[in-house]
Amino acid sequence: MTPDSNNEVTELISAEAISQKVAELGAQITRDYKGKNPLMVGVLRGAVVFMADLVRSIDLDITIDFMAVSSYGESTKSSGVVRIQKDLDEDLKGRHVILVEDIIDTGLTLSYILDYLAAREPASMCVAALMVRELEEDVNESVKYIGFPIPDDFVVGYGLDIAGRLRNLRYVGALKKT
Ligand code: IMP
Ligand code: MG
Repeated sequence: MTPDSNNEVTELISAEAISQKVAELGAQITRDYKGKNPLMVGVLRGAVVFMADLVRSIDLDITIDFMAVSSYGESTKSSGVVRIQKDLDEDLKGRHVILVEDIIDTGLTLSYILDYLAAREPASMCVAALMVRELEEDVNESVKYIGFPIPDDFVVGYGLDIAGRLRNLRYVGALKKT
């Protein structure tokens, strides 16, 4: 089954809209961190596509690192259980950290990661998320850069998966509820 001929997925955010938004976020980060050298931390695996585009739209001397967590397993519902599968290689002490996330759904994963990293005494920490659930009432105040508020559909593409598939779509699509 090739993603583009997959009629279970309907386009929600076009590749063009994503690239325009990512450029805006990059420009904003460039302004906000002028004179600083932020450490961009991508949360594997979902954030990898967003991260790759975002860092190239930032005109600063940056460092990148990745961590891997799992929260969903093969299901489409948050289990609330976050497991660190790969930790960072960089030392966070005194660094300006920008955590790059694909989507904030319940916010459980994010809260866990922020607490976990705060203990390493970064100079500052904030979050750039490509998508945030529209109905999420108290999005963590650390979430400073948001690409798109999105409805309650399960989304795939541009890094996001369903059971490991469809991460390589250029757009973000919604899975049709069956
Ligand atoms: P949270 O802990 O509920 O905020 O879930 C966050 C993580 O779950 C995200 O970083 C994604 O990896 C995954 N996730 C949440 N919603 C979706 C979705 O609609 N599609 C794909 N992955 C999702
Ligand atoms: Mg994720």
